[in-house]
Amino acid sequence: MLAIDLTGKRAFVAGVADDGGFGFAIAKALAEAGASVCVGTWPPALNIFLNLLERGKMDESLTLPDGSRMAFEKIYAFDAAYDALADVPADIRDSKRYKDRGDFTIEGVARQLEADFGPQPLDIVIHSLANGPEVKKPLLETSRAGYLSALSVSAYSLVSMVRTFTPLMRPGGNFQSITFMASERAVPGYGGGMSSAKAALESDTRTLAYEVGTKHGLRINTISAGPYASRAATAIGFIDAMMRYAKANAMLREDLEAREVGATAAFLASPLASAITGATIYVDNGYHAMGVAFEGVTEQKDD
Ligand SMILES: NC(=O)c1ccc[n+]([C@@H]2O[C@H](COP(=O)([O-])OP(=O)(O)OC[C@H]3O[C@@H](n4cnc5c(N)ncnc54)[C@H](O)[C@@H]3O)[C@@H](O)[C@H]2O)c1
Repeated sequence: MLAIDLTGKRAFVAGVADDGGFGFAIAKALAEAGASVCVGTWPPALNIFLNLLERGKMDESLTLPDGSRMAFEKIYAFDAAYDALADVPADIRDSKRYKDRGDFTIEGVARQLEADFGPQPLDIVIHSLANGPEVKKPLLETSRAGYLSALSVSAYSLVSMVRTFTPLMRPGGNFQSITFMASERAVPGYGGGMSSAKAALESDTRTLAYEVGTKHGLRINTISAGPYASRAATAIGFIDAMMRYAKANAMLREDLEAREVGATAAFLASPLASAITGATIYVDNGYHAMGVAFEGVTEQKDD
């Protein structure tokens, strides 16, 4: 039987702070396939996440199909906005949510992974994070600082992670990120430079895949997910309308489930996907390939 088997593999999933987003669903799918999973959590969200775990609030979602409970091998404080501690402004470093968290930068977490698990501790790195401080503003009204911040956290962070984590990867290793179709089509409301950041993320996926593929034999892909009511998406404000619209107008008129993104990530992480790299893989019920929306259009009958 052809099966996804990630036994003996270790993943680092960056961008998990609750059980409601794609990062969690990917972590769970990787664990279900047998991988051990470490996560990276944004320091401002870390206390809440640890509390949810300790108080058993996530027990149901942590339960795997065989009845066992997914355990994260390690949870790291991780801020993808910073490459190294020297880049972190003093007011952030000394603030309540950061100061006792060790080295939470990309470089710092790479060093901790090596200290915890030895050289080349990783097979799979997932970038499932984004942040645009002005996401609610139309692009036309976005400040330079807001635009650059969206690009820095949501796109450059992948470049930095791939550079820093490549030496930690075992042969056959792969990277993945999550993108959104606003990179290539106009999606009103997804502002603040976030659409630009996703365009950069997809373009960088191709270039990075070439660079680490030719030099190191590693793979990089990005999953273009349909709208889903995660915490981050809900904060943008119009996710329910987006989900209704996507369901009404996609080829498969279904709600997207996070586990469908998780399963795709597990496949892409596995040797079954050994020839797939540099790709944007759509997990959106076919919405991206529609040319005409159904809404408001009378469907033609065959007679
Ligand atoms: N939900 C959707 O509709 C949708 C659709 C397509 C793509 N995506 C993408 O999926 C990915 C995951 O988002 P999600 O929707 O599952 O929401 P989510 O809230 O589960 O995940 C976003 C995570 O990013 C983290 N984060 C923010 N800034 C960070 C930083 N500087 N360093 C480290 N972590 C940081 C947050 O704490 C959060 O855990 C994102 O790249 C998002 O753009 C989401």
